[in-house]
Amino acid sequence: MTQIIGISGSLRTRSLNAALLRAAAGLAPAGVTIEIQSIKGIPLYDGDLEASSGLPAAVTALKDRIAAADGLLLVTPEYNNSLPGVFKNAIDWLSRPDTDIRRVFGGKPVGIMGASPGRFGTLLSQSAWLPVLRTLGTRPWFGQSLYLGGAHKLFDASGNLADEESRKRIRNYVQGFAEFVAATR
Ligand SMILES: Cc1cc2nc3c(=O)[nH]c(=O)nc-3n(C[C@H](O)[C@H](O)[C@H](O)COP(=O)(O)O)c2cc1C
Repeated sequence: MTQIIGISGSLRTRSLNAALLRAAAGLAPAGVTIEIQSIKGIPLYDGDLEASSGLPAAVTALKDRIAAADGLLLVTPEYNNSLPGVFKNAIDWLSRPDTDIRRVFGGKPVGIMGASPGRFGTLLSQSAWLPVLRTLGTRPWFGQSLYLGGAHKLFDASGNLADEESRKRIRNYVQGFAEFVAATR
């Protein structure tokens, strides 16, 4: 069994990226589980808070889930042609203390995908994540890319993905990423 943790970088209830993550989880092949985790409840990073109280419980729990998983799938929105601050803030917390980065992220296979109403479907946001993934010592997967543009037209009111072409692209991405994860275990 290949276990992948999936995180959406949006807090919005009707998030396109959360919907994309749910679709990806539903399209995972047999023997592959995408466990959906959330960044909800993670406060703004504050070094004083860390010094006085340590890590918030939500951060410690998510770190342990990632450390135990075989792979990590980030589903990122794009804000102002870059990555969203709320998502980066969560990853920054997850990288504390720095002595624990290797346990949580070191050599971890990471896939990245994203959805936006725009034409380029988070292309620039996904590129902006690369220096972060390198700094954390992860192993990003470059075998395929998934930029879901025009995404506001692809999901129905309940956030379900009906578009068959998109479903095929997501299924292929998840299959390829899961094979990469299994091969690096
Ligand atoms: C502050 C802000 C900046 C944005 N900048 C971009 C952008 O640069 N490129 C883009 O494709 N969409 C941009 N958008 C639109 C988002 O892609 C859109 O709101 C999307 O639905 C957000 O992801 P979510 O649905 O998962 O919350 C921006 C939205 C916000 C709120």
